[in-house]
Amino acid sequence: MTFSPADFRKALGLFPTGVAIVSGRTPDGQLLGMTVSSFNSVSLDPPLVLFSVARSAASYAAWEAIPRYGISVLARSQDDLSTRFSKSQADKWALVRPIDGQHGVPLIPGALVGFECERYAVHDGGDHAIFVGKVLSLNAVSTPAAEPLVFYAGRYAGIRRTEYVEAEMDGMLLHGW
Ligand SMILES: Cc1cc2nc3c(=O)[nH]c(=O)nc-3n(C[C@H](O)[C@H](O)[C@H](O)COP(=O)(O)O)c2cc1C
Repeated sequence: MTFSPADFRKALGLFPTGVAIVSGRTPDGQLLGMTVSSFNSVSLDPPLVLFSVARSAASYAAWEAIPRYGISVLARSQDDLSTRFSKSQADKWALVRPIDGQHGVPLIPGALVGFECERYAVHDGGDHAIFVGKVLSLNAVSTPAAEPLVFYAGRYAGIRRTEYVEAEMDGMLLHGW
């Protein structure tokens, strides 16, 4: 290897991403939640998405065990929530009351969109595992005009929603509350 882990991390940080919180419930009813920037689309048919989880995460075994989970795409105003859900074993849900999706999966209120997923596959990803989920429902959890939260070079940023975005989203079939 000709580069250090620190440089690798910095180089990866130059790829701007959105920020999401993955969420779920253990069989005994405990809420799970974790901030991820590794969320991505995989397949349209069947509808598949992915995120990766560090094997070192305290909640790793719990993610492997649950059959369903939610993915909430955060709004610009939710950077505090992103930070809270990135602290290991902190009481992440203390200030947030989850919204249950159509399939009973807990989602983050105020997010741009919430995907309810069922486990489709878990792949080896080195010191992470790649969770592929089949999307069961699309849920509107915020006002349509909210802007997305962006993570870039280790910092949060925003991005303007243009009229083009508004037009693209017009008529999208989201389950609302
Ligand atoms: C913006 C941001 C993105 C993150 N993305 C990921 C990710 O994709 N995968 C991951 O395992 N951890 C990621 N983390 C770190 C986890 O959120 C954090 O380690 C986790 O919440 C710890 O959970 P634990 O209580 O299970 O240890 C990210 C943190 C931040 C601030």
